[in-house]
Amino acid sequence: MAKLLGNLWNAVGIGTALLLVVMFGFHLSSGADATWVNAFFRYLHVLVGIMWIGLLYYFNFVQIPTMPKVPAELKPAVSKYIAPEALFWFRWAAAVTVLTGLIVAYLSGYLVEALTLQSPYRLIGLGMWLALIMAFNVWFVIWPNQKKALGIVEADADTKAKAATTAMIFSRTNTFLSLPMLYCMVTQNLLGQG
Ligand code: HEM
Repeated sequence: MAKLLGNLWNAVGIGTALLLVVMFGFHLSSGADATWVNAFFRYLHVLVGIMWIGLLYYFNFVQIPTMPKVPAELKPAVSKYIAPEALFWFRWAAAVTVLTGLIVAYLSGYLVEALTLQSPYRLIGLGMWLALIMAFNVWFVIWPNQKKALGIVEADADTKAKAATTAMIFSRTNTFLSLPMLYCMVTQNLLGQG
């Protein structure tokens, strides 16, 4: 068992097999129709959304507050190994969340109405805009600044320190934006129009 689950991809494979059992045994058998494509993209959207926001919370609730307490000689373990790997999954999860979210809105027939904040899609539209701002921050502010702060690209000590502060401020911004954003995401469905 330890050998099997010691490999992450085996765990992902088992999860995917169980997912197929749930999809085909419990959902699609009860009458598959066009909604299954929407259901599948919703599922993918929430899955990668968890990966994105989960890592955002890891940075904000775990890594950033703990770094000052880590002894100097141990800091490279985080900055050279853990943070770059976490940032890889973080930024790509953000990109795929945007893509799948836009697909869900399109398949639900309200992409333009939501983005232009028309009733009754204003709530999800607001959530989409909040999440788009967050994704912009990830790709165009946090990631470029983290590359400098972590030494992935060359920068002098002063630039590194400034880049780390900018990345932290925008990471915190995304943390507070995530609270209303998620409310919009999960509530549109209840309005009966989603
Ligand atoms: C730009 C990025 C995003 C876009 C365009 C987007 C778009 C959407 C759309 C259109 C829906 C369907 C709402 C409905 O009609 O019920 C939705 C649902 C949802 N989204 Fe997002 N979203 C984005 C980011 C996120 C993020 C970052 C999360 C974080 C986990 C998230 C979590 C959810 C959840 C949990 C649902 C509810 C699914 C359901 O009730 O079926 N979304 N999103």
